[in-house]
Amino acid sequence: MTAFTYIDGRLMAERVAVADIARKIGTPFYCYSTAALTHAYDAFAVAFQNMPVTICFAVKANSNLSVIAHLAAMGAGADVVSGGELQRALAAGVAPERIVFSGVGKTRDEIAAALRTGVMQINVESAPELDVIAEVARSTGVAANVALRVNPDVDAKTHAKITTGREDNKFGIDMATARQVYGAAAAHPALTCVGIAVHIGSQLTGLDPFRQAFRRVASFVSTLREDGHTVSRIDLGGGLGVTYENETPPTIAAYADVIRDTVLPLGAEIVLEPGRVLVGHAGILVSAVEYVKRTAARRFVILDAAMNDLMRPALYDAYHTIVPVAEPADDDRPSPADIVGPVCETGDIFARDRALPEVARGDLVAILQAGAYGAVMASNYNTRPRAAEVMVSGDAWAVVRDRETVADLMRGERAAPWVGGTSAAATKRGARS
Ligand code: LLP
Repeated sequence: MTAFTYIDGRLMAERVAVADIARKIGTPFYCYSTAALTHAYDAFAVAFQNMPVTICFAVKANSNLSVIAHLAAMGAGADVVSGGELQRALAAGVAPERIVFSGVGKTRDEIAAALRTGVMQINVESAPELDVIAEVARSTGVAANVALRVNPDVDAKTHAKITTGREDNKFGIDMATARQVYGAAAAHPALTCVGIAVHIGSQLTGLDPFRQAFRRVASFVSTLREDGHTVSRIDLGGGLGVTYENETPPTIAAYADVIRDTVLPLGAEIVLEPGRVLVGHAGILVSAVEYVKRTAARRFVILDAAMNDLMRPALYDAYHTIVPVAEPADDDRPSPADIVGPVCETGDIFARDRALPEVARGDLVAILQAGAYGAVMASNYNTRPRAAEVMVSGDAWAVVRDRETVADLMRGERAAPWVGGTSAAATKRGARS
């Protein structure tokens, strides 16, 4: 399903013309489709309907409150990796007992917040972290449900920067160590050791790495049980890829089959942490062409969106489809363009040598597949306010996050008393503090 298609020459988000939204709120903005979220969540849930699975949406992929709330209303729990994401999940209405707290460097405060909240489990990434969790649990008098995240040393065959399950990645505990740590956790009075977690990477486009990792986890669980431990829950992380250019990721059904073959026979509860597959295709970034600049060698299409709005191309050389919001005529032959942002970095480029029809100043373009790891990774580099976020449903649309203002960005800054040359307003702000 794609919620973003041309109808009568206009790019629509469901039944709303993208250009109409742009006219009302300006650009750039992210636009999410409720129907696409529903469709993706349904497809995922249906594939697992006969298994004891809790689907915990990886909030890091898109933490807009409306997105989380919609998925939660459909039955999703949440996988969070910071105190901030925990607060977002709760604010969006996710039940605490459906929240998994992952992450490699949780602070004492974050651990305490998770325990106060009563999350389903905390995924532990090292022996020292387990010690801190035990200490916080003891001092707060709340027993902590923990799962050990193991590192299965499997190559996920994805981009190096989003590979997490290799021995030399910072994530998880190697299995030999994990066997000892599980014993210690199980014996600790302040801890309830519920199981094992694993996550080997993101944007996986093949099943083999999943199969390999899940087999290793399954045999490790058998070892733990032979050691006399209870392992009642297995968290298999996220990672299923989506199509950006010409990738052919496994179907959700095929992914479910791998889990059915490898982990289901252990009879444990299963937790999944999908992110991208639920939201990736449910969002676009809409931007206006500021300038078209031709040099002897190239055509630069300079947008009003930049690497601070969507970092994936700059950070991972990621491919995103880019289309004009007004459907090109059949005889409008695309020619190569470098589609770039205005930020002062050569790396601020969305696409190089991309076939694009003629566009002119003021024309709108949409950068597709931007629902996952788009707005959440935005920054304020070059003092650029973050883009607005909009959600559509049928012919209705709403701004679900206001565009930031420069005043928002300067809030909290003040002139040091010894600094001259600042504006009167800034000095006054400083004097007040
Ligand atoms: N669980 C854990 C423990 C994770 O670290 C991640 C993603 C997920 C679940 C969700 O994975 P997904 O289903 O979305 O693949 N910024 C990168 C992706 C980073 C992924 C980090 N961890 C990108 O834009 O491609």
